[in-house]
Amino acid sequence: MEPGEPDRRATTSSDAQAWDWLRQGLRWRLQRLLGAIAKGSPPHRTPSPYVLPEGGYDAQRYWGDRHRRYRHSFRGVGDASKSEEQNLHEYVAAVGTIAELLAEVSFNPTGKSCLDIGCGNGFWTGILKAWGISAYTGVDITDALFDLLRNRFPDFRFISGSLPALPLEPGYQLITMIDVTQHITDDTELSRILEHVRALLAPDGVFVVTFWNQSRPQEQFYETFRPFAFYTASLEGLAHTAPRPFRDKFVAAFHNPRRRPEALRIEPLPAASILRVAEQVLAA
Ligand SMILES: C[S@@+](CC[C@H](N)C(=O)[O-])C[C@H]1O[C@@H](n2cnc3c(N)ncnc32)[C@H](O)[C@@H]1O
Repeated sequence: MEPGEPDRRATTSSDAQAWDWLRQGLRWRLQRLLGAIAKGSPPHRTPSPYVLPEGGYDAQRYWGDRHRRYRHSFRGVGDASKSEEQNLHEYVAAVGTIAELLAEVSFNPTGKSCLDIGCGNGFWTGILKAWGISAYTGVDITDALFDLLRNRFPDFRFISGSLPALPLEPGYQLITMIDVTQHITDDTELSRILEHVRALLAPDGVFVVTFWNQSRPQEQFYETFRPFAFYTASLEGLAHTAPRPFRDKFVAAFHNPRRRPEALRIEPLPAASILRVAEQVLAA
């Protein structure tokens, strides 16, 4: 779908805000293009206002603006070019994938502590709660959605910022980075964050991470494509599963090689419970 083309598949109230944002972006690009033509310079790809002169992008500003515009919508945390229903469908299917992955490493979330890095609109917060996570810390580079999250999850903790510069105690039994690492565009920064994840993981803990699993040139300023080998190298010494397909990416679990599998397996969530979590996100 071309930017600016009306999305007839869009269905939620937050679409109006999202379209406002797209329209503003389009107007800004059009003005730059007309300015360039008036000056006689050839049309060129207009840099985003979020791109920093020293390289990389201002992630806090980009995600803050994006979350403020889309609010709870799955198009804000998912794929904005797809409808709310399509995103929702993919999120619901993804729950089964994570459950299978946790079962593969014999990890049962009930009663465990969790650090969820890049918690977004709180969909996974709700799923982890339904799985029985007892202590949850959600981290996000922006606090733009924290009002919704704190309202829905008064017993959970939310901290804004990026690792490693956060006051977090080690010993998390589950650490998740779902659909986040590609948005940390600098390799050195991501390696440092993964090193810190390793330090925060309990000896019996499991780290779940999604990734593109391919190298290709950057298509968007806010995404870097990396192969699985980047993650295994950054987390060298940890055991890991094979990557399994997850939405448009892959997911794998890392853990201490001496970790003992648990006897109790994770119970699959009934579809009705997953949909209830999604409804709560959309109702927030
Ligand atoms: C594509 S969204 C995914 C959100 C959620 N995990 C999900 O799967 O729905 C990426 C999230 O990561 C957050 N984020 C981006 N860079 C981050 C960083 N360095 N540390 C923590 N959160 C970050 C964004 O604000 C956004 O909420």
